[in-house]
Amino acid sequence: MAADYIHLNLFTMNSVEHVTTGNWRTPGDQSHRYTDLDYWLDVARTAERGGFDGVFFADVRGIYDVYGGDRETAVENAIQTPSNDPAYLVPAMASVTDHLGFAVTKSTSYNHPYQLARELSTLDHVTDGRVAFNIVTSYLESAAANLGVDDRMDHDERYDRADEFMDVCYALWEDSWDDDAVVRDRETGVYTAPDGVEAIDFEGEYFDVPGPHGCEPSPQRTPVLYQAGSSERGRAFAADNAEAVFVSQPTERGVRDYIEDMRERAAERGRDPDDLRFFPGIVPVVGETEEIARKKYETYAENVDTEATLALLAGFIDLDFSELDPDQQVEHIETEAIQGAINAFTKNDPDRDWTVGEVAEFAGLGTTSPVVVGDPEQVADRLEYWHEEVGVDGFNLKEIVRPGTLEDFVDMVVPELRDRGLVREAYEGQTLRENLFEEAGRTALAEDHPARR
Ligand SMILES: Cc1cc2nc3c(=O)[nH]c(=O)nc-3n(C[C@H](O)[C@H](O)[C@H](O)COP(=O)(O)O)c2cc1C
Repeated sequence: MAADYIHLNLFTMNSVEHVTTGNWRTPGDQSHRYTDLDYWLDVARTAERGGFDGVFFADVRGIYDVYGGDRETAVENAIQTPSNDPAYLVPAMASVTDHLGFAVTKSTSYNHPYQLARELSTLDHVTDGRVAFNIVTSYLESAAANLGVDDRMDHDERYDRADEFMDVCYALWEDSWDDDAVVRDRETGVYTAPDGVEAIDFEGEYFDVPGPHGCEPSPQRTPVLYQAGSSERGRAFAADNAEAVFVSQPTERGVRDYIEDMRERAAERGRDPDDLRFFPGIVPVVGETEEIARKKYETYAENVDTEATLALLAGFIDLDFSELDPDQQVEHIETEAIQGAINAFTKNDPDRDWTVGEVAEFAGLGTTSPVVVGDPEQVADRLEYWHEEVGVDGFNLKEIVRPGTLEDFVDMVVPELRDRGLVREAYEGQTLRENLFEEAGRTALAEDHPARR
């Protein structure tokens, strides 16, 4: 069963271009201000004004150098490089908002769980429980090299490591400290009761972590868990761990099948299948009238850089598109990078074949997500349809121009959705988990989540 109303995240990156190409050139675009804190504070205020659950930050550690075998195209077009670390923006953005959440992407392949558990607990403390962890396994060979790993691990092995990584984090977040361990008793001079703090003594294939956790329990203990796996192995991992999944199928049929499959997998694991939230990406292009929206779309589409788009996809899929003919049909491959990105065009809709040229054209505005163009009512109709009929819980909004895509949506579409009772007027609770699940008091991870069993 889908959420009662539509939940919204802004899907962004602390960089110039994220999943759109060429539109930093559009007049008025301010994506070059990603280094300016004031830019991000305004983004946070706008998202909260629109009743968003959160700002969702993607992040990578390498450079897109698969296309043509070098980084030239990606660098020239600011494809996810240059970029800064998103986590450092979060406390500042939290300080100018009261309810907005922040999902931070962190890789289980290139971090250590003890260190990352500490970083996320710290963020959860200083935001009063408004943090989510977007668990990724990473895909760029160049990132592996930068981080001193000779070879990027195989796709499925990255998930094996991620399983163990999460086991360590869960033990630190959920089991290491009792709720009442901190007594702060001035009389007896006891700050923390020693028997309220346990080692975790974790010994595994990848990690040995004695613990205990260095941080006292934060409001949510375990941050809200996001995941985006769509390969077979990725889905298994998501069904074990995720509370919300980022759906990356470009067609309605793909989204329907994905949701059904994931709910079944969650149920097989003894989890309440309705406790999984589904967020497809969406690329809204909205104008006061349909004509204005269409004009905007034409400008954006003209500004797309096809080569840059192929350089971005080449990194996602680990396939050098520069060697392929634009009229050639995209053939399915088993990739060591993001399997879901190639599946989106080869597997998810058996009725549709894509050529390289069609993929490049489609993907220039938001990669694998549908672009919705129209006046506020038309865009709201589309989102309402996806929520009511297809069963998605909400959307990750992908930006074309910044902050224009967000501002247009909040100023024009959100009022229309509010009139229909489809976007919140007020937040349910203080923490991100309460707001995501529309339930005041639901701050802790569900009891049927594997981390708590
Ligand atoms: C919608 C979406 C967003 C993603 N965002 C990131 C990201 O920001 N950083 C990152 O390293 N990987 C990101 N990934 C990729 C994951 O790290 C991982 O490689 C991928 O989920 C593996 O997917 P698969 O199970 O479909 O093969 C993303 C994947 C998808 C589908």
